[in-house]
Amino acid sequence: MSRNTNILLTGGTGYIGSHTALALTSRGYNVVLLDNLANSSAEVVDAVRTISGRDCTFIEGDIRDGSLLKDVLRKHQIGSVIHFAGLKSVSDSIEDPISYYSTNVVGTLELLAAMASEGISKLVFSSSATVYGVPAYLPIDEAHPTSPVNPYGRSKLHCEEILRDVAAAGDWSIVCLRYFNPAGAHESALLGERPTSRPNNLLPVISEVALGQSATLQVYGNDYDTPDGTGVRDFIHVMDLAEGHEAALRFAETSRGFETFNLGTGQGYSVLEMVQAYEQESGRSIARAFSPRRPGDVASCYADTSKASQVLNWQAARSLHQMCASSWANVSAEAGAHVEVSDSPLSKIVDQ
Ligand code: UD1
Repeated sequence: MSRNTNILLTGGTGYIGSHTALALTSRGYNVVLLDNLANSSAEVVDAVRTISGRDCTFIEGDIRDGSLLKDVLRKHQIGSVIHFAGLKSVSDSIEDPISYYSTNVVGTLELLAAMASEGISKLVFSSSATVYGVPAYLPIDEAHPTSPVNPYGRSKLHCEEILRDVAAAGDWSIVCLRYFNPAGAHESALLGERPTSRPNNLLPVISEVALGQSATLQVYGNDYDTPDGTGVRDFIHVMDLAEGHEAALRFAETSRGFETFNLGTGQGYSVLEMVQAYEQESGRSIARAFSPRRPGDVASCYADTSKASQVLNWQAARSLHQMCASSWANVSAEAGAHVEVSDSPLSKIVDQ
């Protein structure tokens, strides 16, 4: 067994981590998932095993536990690390910046120190388009200035700066992936977005309304300078994003230094376009109401993806409708048999 196929995924039971675990396991990598289960459940490990038909290892632990990290890297003969572990709520980061800097920045430092002490130098880092802050131009390329507007975004940028310095000082290969807006679920419907804390991202909120678990989607602002007045984002299917990590791992195998890549589709869709697509795919009517703009939101944000396409040979391939269909398949399956698409008012209307 080649050492390079043993990959540690910190934050491996989270939304993006678990889908990446599945993509890598299905492609023959041996994955070890480390997670403290702060916002995820160990049940996803079984889902990854079931769907892929292959084993993977789960270890419960915190990213700031340096001695645990060293033990895991050594025991599992890890060749590369994908570092997902981190906190990601903008509002929580404003209320509790210490936790954000501790988990995101100190956690990254602990990981780097453990990797250095075990002689492991290939790292793919989960960054975010949030590091760009308010777009100065669109689409956003990797050369766009970085100017995050909240502690969460700044914690990600601090990590990127640390990683750049570390790569410059030694023989490292570090790839930062700046995610746009991940959405959807694996097509099996067995794996999806399962935050254990209350969701505030658009698609999980829409799916709660579709399931009848929430009454109304609050659409934050309908007076933006966009075609329909609602916010425009670059939604990317989580399995496209997962496959982007494999491309980044392959790149890290043969490169040296520090690189950043946008992972998005390059296409913006509005909140109302997302709602409409979800209604079509779920057959459910999504009640919505317009409310004031959410503080910190921008009108439009979407990626220039040409660097990832040219250098990583990776492009998103799945549509907005596939994001909505896979999300609905997953959340309705988890909610149980009482949620039937054919029972819904909208599907009856559509069927007539
Ligand atoms: C948000 C974060 C971003 C983070 C990303 C992680 C903010 C301001 N930004 O991005 O830093 O990297 O999540 O996943 O929190 N919307 C509604 N109603 C809702 C929820 C969302 O109208 O109930 C709208 C928003 O106003 C926005 C769009 O849907 O226009 C997307 O929102 P969201 O999914 O939260 O993503 P971002 O705000 O782009």
